[in-house]
Amino acid sequence: MLAISFGIVVALATIFTCHWIKKWRNPKCPNNGTLPPGSMGFPIIGETLNLLVPSHSIDVHSFVKKRINKYGSIFKTNLANRPIVVSSDPEVNQFILQQEGGSVELYYMDNFSKLFGQSDDPRARINPVGSIHRYVRSLNLSNFGIEVLKNGLVPQLHRNIHRRLRDWTLSPSLEIKKSISSMIFDIVANHMFGYDYDNSSNDISDKLTCIIKAIASFPLNFPGTTLYKSLKAKNNLKDMIKDEINRRCRNQTSPRGDLLDQAIKDSKEKNDLMFLTDDFISHTVFGSLFASFESISTLLTLCFKILSDYPLVYDQLAIEHEEIVERREEGHKEDPLSWDEYKSLTYTIWVINETLRLSSVSPGLLRRTTKDIQVKGYTIPANWIVVIAVASQHLNPDTFDDPLAFNPYRWKNIDGNVVSKNFMPFGRGIRQCAGAEFSKAFMATFLHVLVTNFKWTKTKGGENVKRTPLLNFGDGIHIKISEKNI
Ligand code: HEM
Repeated sequence: MLAISFGIVVALATIFTCHWIKKWRNPKCPNNGTLPPGSMGFPIIGETLNLLVPSHSIDVHSFVKKRINKYGSIFKTNLANRPIVVSSDPEVNQFILQQEGGSVELYYMDNFSKLFGQSDDPRARINPVGSIHRYVRSLNLSNFGIEVLKNGLVPQLHRNIHRRLRDWTLSPSLEIKKSISSMIFDIVANHMFGYDYDNSSNDISDKLTCIIKAIASFPLNFPGTTLYKSLKAKNNLKDMIKDEINRRCRNQTSPRGDLLDQAIKDSKEKNDLMFLTDDFISHTVFGSLFASFESISTLLTLCFKILSDYPLVYDQLAIEHEEIVERREEGHKEDPLSWDEYKSLTYTIWVINETLRLSSVSPGLLRRTTKDIQVKGYTIPANWIVVIAVASQHLNPDTFDDPLAFNPYRWKNIDGNVVSKNFMPFGRGIRQCAGAEFSKAFMATFLHVLVTNFKWTKTKGGENVKRTPLLNFGDGIHIKISEKNI
């Protein structure tokens, strides 16, 4: 009797499990629509483990590449228990980005959401477009946009970068990504809220490394895990910003007219900005800081690798910048780079574009559907995640000839239509990066200071570039840098 009951339980459990697996693998599509092709993987974990295997190349992560080869430019999958559609189709991607604020909204994966998604106050959600998003965007644009760059930010960046590179010459060898990250943090934090890096007791560099590690780590949050340590580091940095807010509110510092002053003033004077609490302001400042140091440091690290692998690119770059110095009047040769000089650069901008294309710092833009979407004969149901696979567009051989080759000259006569449809390192539409102009000016100024004043050699690393799917430099690239005239 017991054996029969046990047998029935096992049979029922087996039927239930098979039914569950079948349902999992064949999710329902609303209105008799057709889901894109692809596999949902195993229950709960989906295909997450396949994505976690790093790809040992700068090429599109093998997870995406294999599936595009198998299913085409749009496929479905499941990652971290979420149904997902990945698209590398330029038309689909353009269409999805145009739906922002309608049938799609910004989405962050777990760790990213915990670190940057929103402030601790749930009323201050920034994912939907609306007044909060508009405010944060304009705050960033008025502090990092073209007007500020034109009005003296470029020479200011030059002076700060030059000072930092001189400090680097004292070190026998330095790991470039870590050094660039903390340089950018110091410069951007100084610009945003007067952070004084010479007199800070905070060990920022270690905190930044800790935060970056969490992005591609497992989403487990308890003492000892990477995410736990990273959230602690984030809260330390937010506390540092909150301390500065308190000092300014108590009038212990003279006004600088910077981003923090502007946010504090708005929080006091504008009744429609109730969400502007100290926590929200510190969270917003932290978000922009992170956006700058992680993305620009990845790009500049890749630049070091490229300049070392392609000496002809370095020579060409040096010629363009030395010509700028030569054109200056006597007595002004040592002047910092000006906005007009920056705007006259051609080859440097091609190098920057090519680095942006190859690196795809944001390999995918994430959106969540709020309604069912019909596109190219497929239905993407509401509440699914759409990954706009930017890296696949940037490295598509049908668009960019020999896509893994670093070839700045491809930008010389490139068709404007190809660029607008396929090249979007800073995103598109109403969410397009608010720091795009700043980032390009920062990189160009850094390259100007580097090639006109310093010489350097790679001491080790740079062979093990991989995608995790973020670009990763393995044990890092190490260099020795010295001043040219010494
Ligand atoms: C090379 C450096 C950078 C790259 C590649 C980059 C990339 C991006 C991308 C792809 C987006 C769009 C995200 C999406 O649509 O899901 C974005 C948005 C954004 N970025 Fe950047 N970014 C860079 C530097 C910066 C810097 C320096 C700042 C600091 C001000 C910044 C601030 C922002 C902000 C505030 C947004 C959100 C814009 C909005 O939602 O309206 N970024 N960035």
